[in-house]
Amino acid sequence: MRVWELASHDGIDGLKLAERPLPEPGPGEVRVRVAANSINYRDLSTIENSEARGVALPLIPNSDGAGTVSAVGAGAPYREGDRVTGCFFADWTAGEIGPQTMGSALGGPRPGILAEEIVLPAHGVIPTPVHLSDEEAATLPCAALTAWHALTLPKPIQAGETVLLLGTGGVSVFAQQFCRMMGARTIVTSSSDAKLERMKALGADGTVNYRDNPDWDQAVLEMTGGLGVDRAVEVGGPGTFDRSVNATRIGGIIGLIGILTGPAGTVHPTNFMRKSITVRGIYVGSRAMFADMNRAIELHGLTPVIDETFGFESAPDAYRAMRAAGHFGKLAIRVG
Ligand SMILES: NC(=O)c1ccc[n+]([C@@H]2O[C@H](COP(=O)([O-])OP(=O)(O)OC[C@H]3O[C@@H](n4cnc5c(N)ncnc54)[C@H](OP(=O)(O)O)[C@@H]3O)[C@@H](O)[C@H]2O)c1
Repeated sequence: MRVWELASHDGIDGLKLAERPLPEPGPGEVRVRVAANSINYRDLSTIENSEARGVALPLIPNSDGAGTVSAVGAGAPYREGDRVTGCFFADWTAGEIGPQTMGSALGGPRPGILAEEIVLPAHGVIPTPVHLSDEEAATLPCAALTAWHALTLPKPIQAGETVLLLGTGGVSVFAQQFCRMMGARTIVTSSSDAKLERMKALGADGTVNYRDNPDWDQAVLEMTGGLGVDRAVEVGGPGTFDRSVNATRIGGIIGLIGILTGPAGTVHPTNFMRKSITVRGIYVGSRAMFADMNRAIELHGLTPVIDETFGFESAPDAYRAMRAAGHFGKLAIRVG
């Protein structure tokens, strides 16, 4: 079978197509014929910073994929032909995250899913929502589940609440779709008016172009009567965090997710301490959360937004497209 491997610490240029033997599932495992992947900023970042991150080479990249069960190990509760989606963490089934479950992320500590076939523990896959294609299902394990987690914990969003979303990448577009489903109002920032129009078409209520308006937090405060939003889905990191705090109401919640502006920088803890804001670090989510999310996705017939799909042989171009940041929603790779 063919896999893509990061064979050297040369960023996207270090990706090479390779042949590996077909893996056989052991007891409690399934083999999945992968039909599609989606990529996340984290996958790009792992490829571009592999040396600094101490990534062991060769690494099969990517956490997110979906396909069909092609072989079943003893005792695994699946049948050949079942449509399944991989979980970001092969071993985080439920409850709190811990060191062991954290070490089971695909495309990092564990080999990833940019392969024609992959063996996973049966508890590391989940049935694919029936109305979704494999490409659409492949967008769910990381971006969708992270957005779902940020909107449901430590307590679920309530209808009528206002949520701040930053940018129009994978996590934020899913968060917009979930907020619409949950009856929450959203205020979205983007560097592009055209992308903001697309967010409006998905139901966004307020929009602000952060490139034209660097004081976008003030604009968000104006749109909320000076009070601020109930919750922020923070994907920007150090370059946006203080403004997100300013744009969040006293007693509000910030789901701390991303580092699009860089991994380190100065933030001012006094501001969120004074406002009694709960800042909650989020690392994707468990299989149990995935099941909750899929139930809601099926009930509402939610369809993920895929900007572009690349062929298997052109996989490196998908990461280049993510680096260019022209996309809206998700980038996918057809595998099978
Ligand atoms: N903690 C977790 O579990 C977890 C899970 C998933 C993702 N993440 C992280 O979350 C972040 C987003 O991931 P993603 O996969 O959604 O990325 P993505 O699809 O690559 O999103 C990129 C978009 O982010 C927006 N953006 C960039 N800089 C921004 C800024 N300064 N202010 C506001 N928006 C900005 C841009 O939107 P516009 O083009 O509209 O300006 C850009 O197109 C990444 O840092 C990723 O590593 C973390």
